[in-house]
Amino acid sequence: MILTDLPMNFDTKTDTTLRIIQIAAVEAGGGLGFRGRIPWDCPADRQFFRRQTQGHIVVLGRVTYESLGRPSLPGRRIVVLSSCCPHGLMPVSGEGICMPVSWSQKIERVFEIAAKTDAVIYIGGGARVYAGTMAFADELILSRMHGHYTCDRFYPALPKTMQLVERYAMDGFDVYRYVCRGNGRAFG
Ligand SMILES: NC(=O)c1ccc[n+]([C@@H]2O[C@H](COP(=O)([O-])OP(=O)(O)OC[C@H]3O[C@@H](n4cnc5c(N)ncnc54)[C@H](OP(=O)(O)O)[C@@H]3O)[C@@H](O)[C@H]2O)c1
Repeated sequence: MILTDLPMNFDTKTDTTLRIIQIAAVEAGGGLGFRGRIPWDCPADRQFFRRQTQGHIVVLGRVTYESLGRPSLPGRRIVVLSSCCPHGLMPVSGEGICMPVSWSQKIERVFEIAAKTDAVIYIGGGARVYAGTMAFADELILSRMHGHYTCDRFYPALPKTMQLVERYAMDGFDVYRYVCRGNGRAFG
């Protein structure tokens, strides 16, 4: 395990093998959201998220996407999960695209489609999406905030197959990287 002060970002490069990586920030009690928002303001973590996900697909739940003000994430492509596709194909400015996906399409199908253009897919939340995709995750990158915050959304329990491989100390939080030792995924 590596512990340093100033991380750049984790090297998640892969050849052609699909890697599904959850990226999240959690407080000391495992909470990640309150009343539709992230309950802390941490510019350093936002910068880390930007750097880490740059150039890749980021999968978001509809609730998170809307709570963020339907953002575009420059340099990344956004896939928004929704059961009812209320927005149709949302016009997303900048380099982002939005691809609403029906519940009836299995999430594996989303990964298969996305993997045709990118070998690394980041899962950016929120709680329901983290829980629903945990079984497919190859890696978790968790920013663990120091301190407790009131939350009504929580990160799921870590499966036993997730092993801590790296940890970085940041100002006000630590970043942990876990790698899955065998998830039985049947594609990619
Ligand atoms: N701390 C962090 O790192 C972090 C990151 C992201 C978000 N958050 C927080 O998390 C909270 C939101 O989490 P949440 O659990 O309420 O909502 P969410 O996971 O953002 O979105 C849930 C919605 O996504 C859609 N969805 C999820 N899985 C799907 C699937 N397999 N197929 C089709 N649609 C699917 C559904 O949309 P429809 O209802 O349209 O069917 C569902 O209602 C907010 O407080 C946010 O600030 C925190």
